[in-house]
Amino acid sequence: MRIELHRSAPLHGMCVVPGDKSLSHRTALLASLAEGESRIENYLDSGVTRAMLNALKSLSVRWVLEGDVLTIRGMGLRGLQPADDVLDCSHSATTLRLLTGALAGANVPCVLDGSSSLRARPMGRILDPLREMGVPIEAASGCTAPLILSRRRPGERLKGLSTSLPVASAQVKSAILLAALGADGETKVEEPGPSRDHTERLLSGMGVQVVRDTAAFRVTLIPPNRPLLPLHLCLPGDISSAAFIICAALVVPGSEITVHDVGLNPTRIGLLNALKAMGAQIEIRLKADEPGERVGDVRVRASDLHGIKVDGELVVRMIDEFPIFAVVAAVAEGETIVRGAQELRYKESDRISTLCRVLSAVGADIKELPDGFRIRGRQTLRGNAQVSSHGDHRLAMALCVAGLVAEQPIVLEDAEIIAQSFPGFVAQLHDLAAEVVA
Ligand code: S3P
Repeated sequence: MRIELHRSAPLHGMCVVPGDKSLSHRTALLASLAEGESRIENYLDSGVTRAMLNALKSLSVRWVLEGDVLTIRGMGLRGLQPADDVLDCSHSATTLRLLTGALAGANVPCVLDGSSSLRARPMGRILDPLREMGVPIEAASGCTAPLILSRRRPGERLKGLSTSLPVASAQVKSAILLAALGADGETKVEEPGPSRDHTERLLSGMGVQVVRDTAAFRVTLIPPNRPLLPLHLCLPGDISSAAFIICAALVVPGSEITVHDVGLNPTRIGLLNALKAMGAQIEIRLKADEPGERVGDVRVRASDLHGIKVDGELVVRMIDEFPIFAVVAAVAEGETIVRGAQELRYKESDRISTLCRVLSAVGADIKELPDGFRIRGRQTLRGNAQVSSHGDHRLAMALCVAGLVAEQPIVLEDAEIIAQSFPGFVAQLHDLAAEVVA
């Protein structure tokens, strides 16, 4: 689907964004492992979360999604049933990595696969620790999907693991913790940075003993000897989706908007910290802590921004936000440098190289670095280009925001990919005053 983005009038108003993607994946999976019925409000119904729900259905989990309310009948920690067929995780690495961990813990044999883009993503990072725990798992081509998980032989048990991950990754950490639910003895995972901690928070709320040392980026899980409690939650809006609206309001002159009820987990708000360091006028009003998660409203005013340097743990806390961050940096004053972000090469696309290519095409002065990029801000973008997101939903939305500030229109060729994480994004922009022509 092609859409055309035009230079926008100021964005005004209030909005909410769909439920958090990471929490939607996790609550569906963990509710399936609980005992009793869970009810999750503001569940994200999108391409990637459908992949998780469909896979759970194949494992005999009964769920109903009515509007944005998901109810799930839990199957217990050992209750998932082998699927008749290959589990199709579509484009979703979170589905594939988290399900693999959970199925390993529950000792359910299966084959997990997905789209060609998912097959290109590295899986060695979960295979190695799972094998160390005693999980019989193979990858058809060494270290990529499809993954073949076998049933353990009678008498073979999973061992708890103590590991230090080479790369901070919530998906890898979560896969290990989910497998550890079915292991003998405690499991300890240490990371080089603060990856998102939703799995730990949820498990803790479900009655599992999880000890966290946030300063050392370390978590220890003691396998539960009683069933997981069901979940009754209302999920916050996804800060990674809100990021596009927030950044659009910052760069379109004269804008002022408020995004309500957004998740503000400290491991997820690196972008807000970076934007504030660039001079952004952003006010946060904190509300409840549900489900053990910080939630609040974010008020944004168009601002004069200047370039900054981003590296270290800030990279981890804004790992999904670099496509939109780069658009902001491209229209800020002065130079922005991102280093230590080589993980971006293993996302939905090689986000360093595709980002540099597509932003150059719309007029940004951006240079690829081995572990990041350098941008010389020009305060405006030329536009006048027809571009593809290369199958990357976050790149697609970043290009839309670029179109709102470019001098000439930007045509996005594959806008349908946006529905993987933020269905309704284009309508949301319209509601706030942006001109988008389908
Ligand atoms: C996610 C973790 C991150 C992130 C992804 C969602 C999660 O991936 O990029 O969009 O829900 O755990 P990594 O764990 O590979 O960093």
